[in-house]
Amino acid sequence: MIFEHLRLDLQEGILIVTLDRESALNAINMATMDSLHRLFGQYIPDHDEITGVVLTGAGPKAFAAGADIKEFAEFSAQEGKHLSAKGHETYFLIEKSRVPVIAAVNGYALGGGCELAMACHMRIAGEHAKFGQPEVNLGLIPGYGGTQRLIQYIGKGKALELLLTADLINAEEALRLGLVNHVVPSGQEVETSRKLLLRISEKGPVAVRKVIEAVNAYFTEATDGFHFEVESFGYACGTQDFREGASAFVEKRKPQFTGH
Ligand code: CAA
Repeated sequence: MIFEHLRLDLQEGILIVTLDRESALNAINMATMDSLHRLFGQYIPDHDEITGVVLTGAGPKAFAAGADIKEFAEFSAQEGKHLSAKGHETYFLIEKSRVPVIAAVNGYALGGGCELAMACHMRIAGEHAKFGQPEVNLGLIPGYGGTQRLIQYIGKGKALELLLTADLINAEEALRLGLVNHVVPSGQEVETSRKLLLRISEKGPVAVRKVIEAVNAYFTEATDGFHFEVESFGYACGTQDFREGASAFVEKRKPQFTGH
């Protein structure tokens, strides 16, 4: 499979995905969105050897500076709606990925780029990273989930302030607000993310998948997350992985999970 504008590198089961349009600050054009859609919709689910994904941007300056403004500058209302819907579909694939996805934010994460980072399960920011939803500067609103996910991380009041003023925040402020998990020295974003995913890859794969699903259930309308947890706990209890995990605990050894 060919993924235009993405660079892929598989290391010890962790897939490093680099948005590769450095001259446009990795702005997400339609071809990039299509690549992300196929990557998370088909490729990753079909490759069991992948236990985690790091998403990052090429070059030292940007994770992604947003949707590609030049590409949709002349769009009609209908075309804009399609663009937004495709972005939502793609970012939901990331949020619902069976394996954890970490955004290694190596610079600007703006507009659709900030929304991409927020669709990931965790965010590791370099100390010079900058976050924001500057769409109102363009007479637009966020189109890839920004109005919904920013609230989930930082709360309604602060989210409204950032969405309405288009102000950018630095990595320390993003950490303080709960938008990012850790801030690391510039250049260490990917390696820190990779190490975190390697630690998670030692856990039971079914349990990892079920935790992601159960946490997502909290934010899914018409889904009772508590009920979902009951069902998922029961499911996990019936797996070989749980037998192995419990036996390993009793026998004081490291578990060997198989994902079944
Ligand atoms: N789309 C298309 N091209 C972009 C871009 C974007 N979102 N962001 C940057 N670029 C391009 C610039 O046009 C420039 O290209 P040229 O060299 O061909 O002129 C190149 O990347 C470098 O950018 P700058 O010269 O502007 O770099 P800078 O250091 O002076 O500024 C920046 C950096 C503050 C990030 C500035 O580029 C900027 O404000 N970018 C736009 C950010 C933005 O508004 N993002 C939201 C997009 S809309 C959106 O995402 C909607 C949605 O939710 C779906």
